[in-house]
Amino acid sequence: MLAEARRRYGQGAAVGTCLAHPAPGLVQADLQNPEELALLVAHIEPAAVIIAAAFAWVDGCEMDAERTRRTNVDGPRAVATACEKLGAVPVLLGTDYVFDGEAGPYSEDDPVRPISAYGRSKLDAERAVAGRCPAALLVRTNVVYSWLPAGNNFLMQVVTKLGKGEPMRVPADQSNNPTYAPDLAAALCELLEARAAGVWHFGGGDFLGRHDFGVAIAQAFDLDASLLQPVTTQELKQPAARPLKSGLRTARFEALAGRKPLTSREGIARALALSRGDAGA
Ligand SMILES: NC(=O)c1ccc[n+]([C@@H]2O[C@H](COP(=O)([O-])OP(=O)(O)OC[C@H]3O[C@@H](n4cnc5c(N)ncnc54)[C@H](OP(=O)(O)O)[C@@H]3O)[C@@H](O)[C@H]2O)c1
Repeated sequence: MLAEARRRYGQGAAVGTCLAHPAPGLVQADLQNPEELALLVAHIEPAAVIIAAAFAWVDGCEMDAERTRRTNVDGPRAVATACEKLGAVPVLLGTDYVFDGEAGPYSEDDPVRPISAYGRSKLDAERAVAGRCPAALLVRTNVVYSWLPAGNNFLMQVVTKLGKGEPMRVPADQSNNPTYAPDLAAALCELLEARAAGVWHFGGGDFLGRHDFGVAIAQAFDLDASLLQPVTTQELKQPAARPLKSGLRTARFEALAGRKPLTSREGIARALALSRGDAGA
């Protein structure tokens, strides 16, 4: 997101934050420290604040309600309050986990029913941010992936595990529209430039099962797709329930932006190009 904002608006136009993983050019900010957040926003005087930071470990949220609430709800609310004072737009990154996964893919107006602590916290965050700042932009996305060697997104998990010749169990009963991260970053800028507010969905240009997505990644990266073992979500015995038939319809975004999101094939191809050192992908 930071790279996309700087590419569009200039190097000095965007400030990135970090918590446990500092890097040059990032400033420390803790979502669990509302006073610090308010000071930081007032000091920078941004036009918009993208709230991507979260306690995003879905199973971890089931085990630590206090941290989940403070990080995912109270922090974004504090940012939204600071934005409202300045006339800045808070942009909350949301999730398809606000839905139960019984009848996806979902549109913005479909009824929400989260089935996990993470999903409930992200829905509470939407309500907290919009409650503090009516101009807030709430963008739900799902299965975000990119080429990010230090990252742990699904594409990196597949490439790393299969690259070592290790098997990987992948749920075959979850379906979504995987989202190429740089395409999401561009969409956030497009929505902001159009002064969009309220709930918007952004995901990839095609809907597919998680195992099929893994196979597509393996084939593109010339890895042994047979190492991907299709299992049911129930077999994984994860603490948090997952929405199974999920994904996010993007018709509203497409009408506004005049373009379609990248498909999984296109996103994987760009990730592959980046892995080979093509910085323009
Ligand atoms: N990944 C997906 O497929 C997906 C799907 C739908 C929605 N989302 C949403 O997209 C956003 C990013 O998700 P992600 O998967 O990229 O998460 P992630 O890899 O776990 O990254 C979370 C980020 O939040 C920061 N962070 C964590 N706790 C913080 C705190 N108390 N104060 C300040 N920063 C904190 C971390 O900073 P450090 O690294 O410096 O610690 C990290 O950069 C989240 O809002 C998530 O709900 C993600």
